[in-house]
Amino acid sequence: MKRIGVLTSGGDSSGMNAAIRAIVRTAISHGVETYGIRHGFAGLIRGECALLTSRDVGGVINRGGTFLRTSRCNEFLLPEGRAMAHASLVKYGIEGLIVIGGDGTLRGAQCLFDEFGTAINGVPGTIDNDVPGTDYSIGFDTAINAAIDAIDRVRDTAYSHDRIFVIEVMGRHHGYIAAEAGLAAGAEITLVPEHPYTLDDVCTALQKAQDMGRLSCIVVVAEGAASAAVLKEQIKERMGLEVRYLVLGHMQRGGIPTAFDRALASRLGSFATERLLAGHSGELAGLQNNMPVATPIKEVLEMECKLDLEKLRLMEMMAQ
Ligand code: F6P
Repeated sequence: MKRIGVLTSGGDSSGMNAAIRAIVRTAISHGVETYGIRHGFAGLIRGECALLTSRDVGGVINRGGTFLRTSRCNEFLLPEGRAMAHASLVKYGIEGLIVIGGDGTLRGAQCLFDEFGTAINGVPGTIDNDVPGTDYSIGFDTAINAAIDAIDRVRDTAYSHDRIFVIEVMGRHHGYIAAEAGLAAGAEITLVPEHPYTLDDVCTALQKAQDMGRLSCIVVVAEGAASAAVLKEQIKERMGLEVRYLVLGHMQRGGIPTAFDRALASRLGSFATERLLAGHSGELAGLQNNMPVATPIKEVLEMECKLDLEKLRLMEMMAQ
């Protein structure tokens, strides 16, 4: 291989830039050039491809977002869109591709691999941490740190006013951010989609906390489990208490990547590149037991995400 490509796709996550840097510089050290593809699969369809030099990836390791830009591309879901994407790879002489993103991105990668035999590897980049085959995805650590910083701030005012706060975090269909941020921020209650709950459960837990003299409480709720706005009204109506809510939203996706995310991105970006250049493709570069591991993307897409529910039990025990 003499030329590879890199793109970021789906929701951005802090550390994607560090991964791009690692890919470009690893390729250079093997005598291979890297083309950056802007705006994810949409940019590949449109042929937004240009050479990335070592200098182009200088000063990006500490920047959030993705300087290549990203997108969620409906056109790529259609065979015609994928044929155009393949044509761009041929046109620019890109012999191998590395995609950085979440499960949707990996599904797209698998399509190119199956339909055109594209040499393609994936690097997990999503704040949701819902990619099997890796213990951590790039951006998760930065996101949970952003979330606990926000929760810490809210706790000050919740305490001062003896209020209950319901704080909604991202995570799409999964509760990884909620469970980790809830545990690390000392939330009294954490709700995740993986563990069904009723309003009665929430109110009983809140009542228990009140009975123990805890006049302010933090309820962390994953967006896939409930809407903070709705839950706030339900608690208020049922318990007659003062409740406020906050949706953390996209602030969780931005900001300076943590040391963990920069190191993770550097390791996985480099590993995915060296695997590609050694002739291995159709793989996800993940971190398992602190070691880079390659898993066929096809297998990753068939695996189930498993949230460690022990964290919820721990939180309940800590909330006494
Ligand atoms: O997948 C990352 C994520 O931030 C999810 O947590 C969230 O549900 C979704 O993206 C939001 O997507 P968008 O930025 O398109 O609104």
